[in-house]
Amino acid sequence: MADRDTAAQSVFDPAAIRAERERQNQLLLEKMRAQLPGARARLSERGIDPDPLVATDYEGKPMTVADFYMMLRGYAVTEKAGQDPTYRAARCAIRSELAPEVRDAAFVALNQQSAEEAGHGDKIFGAAYYEMGGIAAEPVAEDGFQQGANFLDPTDDPAVNTQKVLDIMAVLGGVETLALERAFPLVLRACAEWRHPLAAQLAEQVNKIVKPEEARHVLTWRYLFHKGVVPRGEAAIERYYMLTNWGRDRFLAPRMERGEFERHMRASCPSVEQLIGRPMPVSI
Ligand SMILES: [Fe+2]
Ligand SMILES: [Fe+2]
Repeated sequence: MADRDTAAQSVFDPAAIRAERERQNQLLLEKMRAQLPGARARLSERGIDPDPLVATDYEGKPMTVADFYMMLRGYAVTEKAGQDPTYRAARCAIRSELAPEVRDAAFVALNQQSAEEAGHGDKIFGAAYYEMGGIAAEPVAEDGFQQGANFLDPTDDPAVNTQKVLDIMAVLGGVETLALERAFPLVLRACAEWRHPLAAQLAEQVNKIVKPEEARHVLTWRYLFHKGVVPRGEAAIERYYMLTNWGRDRFLAPRMERGEFERHMRASCPSVEQLIGRPMPVSI
């Protein structure tokens, strides 16, 4: 157990994760820079001026419509990349040691989340990207979404599956909170400045569909914390907190301070209806 924890600490070392992401981001940036002239041409062909400034990015650098368009590719593929791990986490949940009602709720919530992430990727950000440039948003190797997939598969050991679903949810919780704090505000700021009907349409979809769904995904993170992590004691709580930040480190985002984590979790455990936004589809 001690060995496993030490191994986990080094795999999840924030400095190492951030350094690797920085390296990949540099490569991604170079790739995107090389694609920028083509992207600008696609926008122009479709009657969209690529040059107006619409926002400043996370580093405070000015962002043009063309930069915003390139950023939408990132949003589309990142959201879409959430489909697979949540689908697998749902399957770990039903083969876990969680109490039957928690297993059922986690399965339905995670399966629904999987469909919603696909929708955010394909129907919302992917559709906006297509409208602007006429090509599909495609992930590139430097996005780094192809790693670690086997880890997410359920095993024959319910105890291992329990740990997997809790670990995955912690990571996802870090990303979901980040999406709500940073990613959607940035896209909404750009939409507010960009005077184009597509911007208004995208802002409406983000406000009416994406944000409420992401807010419910945060509830799944809180629900599994209360139902699966708290009963296992301090070490499990520490691990959940560490992995929440691992999710944020992967995106080079500000870490979640312990006080903020506790503020999120101190609120009562969400009900199953809040978790999935409606009553359970089947009552057993
Ligand atoms: Fe999403
Ligand atoms: Fe989400």
